[in-house]
Parts: sequence; C-alpha cells; structure tokens
Amino acid sequence: MTGSGNNPVKQAPKPWGLFLCAGFRASKFTLRPFPILFPSFVNRILTTNEQLTVSNMSSQSGLPLFLGQLIRSPRNISAIAPSSMALARQMAAELPTNRTGPVVEFGPGTGRITQALLEAGVAAQDLHAFELNEEFVQLLRRSFSDIHVHHKPAQDLGTLGLDQVRAVVSGLPLLSIPGAIQREILGAAFRAMGAGGVYIQFTYGPKSPVDEQVAQELALTYTKSRRIWGNLPPATVYSFRSNMV
Ligand SMILES: C[S@@+](CC[C@H](N)C(=O)[O-])C[C@H]1O[C@@H](n2cnc3c(N)ncnc32)[C@H](O)[C@@H]1O
Repeated sequence: MTGSGNNPVKQAPKPWGLFLCAGFRASKFTLRPFPILFPSFVNRILTTNEQLTVSNMSSQSGLPLFLGQLIRSPRNISAIAPSSMALARQMAAELPTNRTGPVVEFGPGTGRITQALLEAGVAAQDLHAFELNEEFVQLLRRSFSDIHVHHKPAQDLGTLGLDQVRAVVSGLPLLSIPGAIQREILGAAFRAMGAGGVYIQFTYGPKSPVDEQVAQELALTYTKSRRIWGNLPPATVYSFRSNMV
C-alpha cells in the first residue's frame, strides 16, 4: 500500500492515471489512456461537462482551478472534471425528508454539490463542508460565504461535536481510499448521524464504492439511483444506511 497524507492509496500511480476517474480504476476501462492520445477529445469532454455543470452556478465554475489541483494531487481528486449539476441535484434529491439537523458535505471540491444542496433548501448555516485541499477551501469560502467550510479531512468530523446530523453527502473518491480510512470516514459519519442517518455517495464504477469489509462491519444497506448520463463520466448515487447505530 502506498500513498501519503490523509488518503494513502492502494496502488502506485499509473502514468495515465491523471485522466482516469477512480470509478474505472479497477475495471477494464483502466486500459484506455485515450485522453492522452487524443487531447482534443479531452478538451471536448471537459467543455461538455463544463456546459453541463456551470449553467446554474452564480459563482465562477472553478474548472481551471479543478484541473490545476488535479495535476497537483490526482489521487485525492480522482475525477476528470467537477460533477455536473445533474449529478449534484441527484445527490441533493437523496436527502432524507423525515429528518432535520445539520448536513455535512465531504470533499466539496469547487462546490457543485454544495450549490445543489443550497438550491434544495438546506440552510447555509446548517451546511458543514470538509475539504482537504486548501485552494478549494479558499474558493468555497469566497463562493459560499455563509456555510461552514472546514479545512479538515472528512475523518475528523467527530472533532466538531455535531450530532443528529441529517445526512452526510460525499464527493470523496472512495474507490481510491483504502479500507482503513473508509472505516474512519464512514464510522465518523454514522456516529454523527445516529439512527436513520443516510450517507450519500456518487461513484463512476459499476458497484458499491464502499469496501466490502467496512460495509459488513457497519451493516450497511443501500439504495442506488438510475445512472446519471448527464455527467462525464456517467455516475450513480448510492444512499447507505447502517443497522449498527
Ligand atoms: C472527486 S473530487 C469531487 C469534488 C466535488 N464534490 C464534485 O463532485 O465536483 C474529490 C474531492 O474530495 C477531496 N478530498 C479527498 N480526500 C478527502 C478527505 N479525506 N477529506 C476531505 N476532502 C477530501 C478532494 O480534495 C476533492 O476536492
């Protein structure tokens, strides 16, 4: 196991890994370094995702910043572009309607899902975002001045003393995060939510992004959304519940 910082990763980086999303890491798609071979194709992907994603954002899209940070820290970001608003809105649509309380967002990046959560009616003062990347933290603080932006890893959620959290909405690259760290992250999330809490996570891959052992330990069950084709790459949203809390 290699890696550094708060998200040690399971594998050494591949030269083409920059342009591969985490969801495809372990699948046959890993063998397709097409973006490097066809840079104009990459440009088209990014342009399309940009059109998909920025139409309803009042602030700057953050795409150049996202790409810059992707180059600096590919393992922590593990996506070729920010999520589209279609995906972000699907994440927000999974918020439980039978609970109140603070909403926690993990890995907001440039704030697409943050934007969708606010649009869905989450009060700014109830929204707590945990982001590792300092540049993203600064952008988020500029774009969403009323939410709580914590420059901390997701696994530090417990240090805030929040309880009865309504839901945890995660844009973390879970497939790139080893089981031990996933255990800390999901454990902290379900402790903060208590019984009935929902952990909402998107993935590009074909199956649940949570490590199987962690899922067993936390007695997780899930529902999943239809595939969101209006995102590059297409993604699915999983909503996890735990029978252990
Ligand atoms: C795939 S990007 C998703 C960004 C954004 N949510 C979106 O959907 O466009 C993953 C984000 O998670 C952040 N991240 C990675 N590991 C983290 C951790 N342990 N705690 C908090 N943020 C983390 C990265 O800095 C990056 O902003």
